[in-house]
Amino acid sequence: MSKQEFQDRLLSLGLARVAEQAAIASADFIGRGDEKAADQAAVNAMREQLNNMNIKGVVVIGEGERDEAPMLYIGEEVGSGDGPAVDIALDPLEGTTLTAKDMPNALTVIAMAPRGSLLHAPDTYMEKLAIGPGYPKDVVSLTMSTKERVEALAKAKGVPTNGITVCVLDRPRHEEMIKDLRETGCAIRLITDGDVAGVIHCAEESTNIDMYMGAGGAPEGVLAASALKCLGGQMWGKLLFRNDDERARARKTGISDFDKVYSLDELVTSDVIFAATGVTDGSIVDGLKCTPNYLETETILMRSSTGSVRRMKYRKPLGK
Ligand code: FBP
Repeated sequence: MSKQEFQDRLLSLGLARVAEQAAIASADFIGRGDEKAADQAAVNAMREQLNNMNIKGVVVIGEGERDEAPMLYIGEEVGSGDGPAVDIALDPLEGTTLTAKDMPNALTVIAMAPRGSLLHAPDTYMEKLAIGPGYPKDVVSLTMSTKERVEALAKAKGVPTNGITVCVLDRPRHEEMIKDLRETGCAIRLITDGDVAGVIHCAEESTNIDMYMGAGGAPEGVLAASALKCLGGQMWGKLLFRNDDERARARKTGISDFDKVYSLDELVTSDVIFAATGVTDGSIVDGLKCTPNYLETETILMRSSTGSVRRMKYRKPLGK
């Protein structure tokens, strides 16, 4: 699809609105301990807004397979049916637990790219490795050991290994990796959830995070890659399969090489636009602000074609 047909400039503002409305819909569920209700509210709002957009959209990363998810399932067609044919990756609430417990960095997330350009990642885990912009190509890799990655990045950054900060999901499956990281003397930012934000952190200087590594959701991997493609940086992902059912899921999405390491440009093969709105306060955007008179959101909106990054505040008066 030509640049002109994708119209990323115009579409991006619509995308921001989709992310905003999903966040606003989840407002009543922050800190209420009900993950499902929070997610459902965000899903409903995101779907309604998407259907207002003039696109021929297909959800390629969504709420699950058709028989599991009534809305925003993989393969669902969204949008008015007019306009460009696009792939959509979304997570109406990235960090359902973070929202239910009112913990930082819950986001509503959506990415859009020309049809056929987002990896149809199955709902499995993905081994992820990401760094921010400014480093030589392939300075680290998934085939390196944990220690080698830290050493290589430290050398490229011109600091000792204790000058590197790595972000990791705090999970028992990462115990060995965390132990190896400790031995290098680097700092570790452990997060309880939300690895889309974890990867974005690598490209946001203010977070001090240099590298993200570990296993998390494969769908979230495609969303994180979309963001990093806009911000600059490098990322690699390898699908992980725990059983035959997961391999069958991958086959259904057209994946046959189960050992493939996907680079950023293979996870997202063309220009992409990405929007995320804060639900709870976070290091990328502020969370929802609810006052007696208005609701306020902050959205980050990015386009890979220009590398532009907007942070947009939106105020919605209550009772109108
Ligand atoms: P949800 O918003 O669906 O709860 O996902 C949160 C998340 O932390 C993702 O960011 C991450 O990729 C995945 O869960 C990790 O999965 P698990 O909790 O099984 O380790």
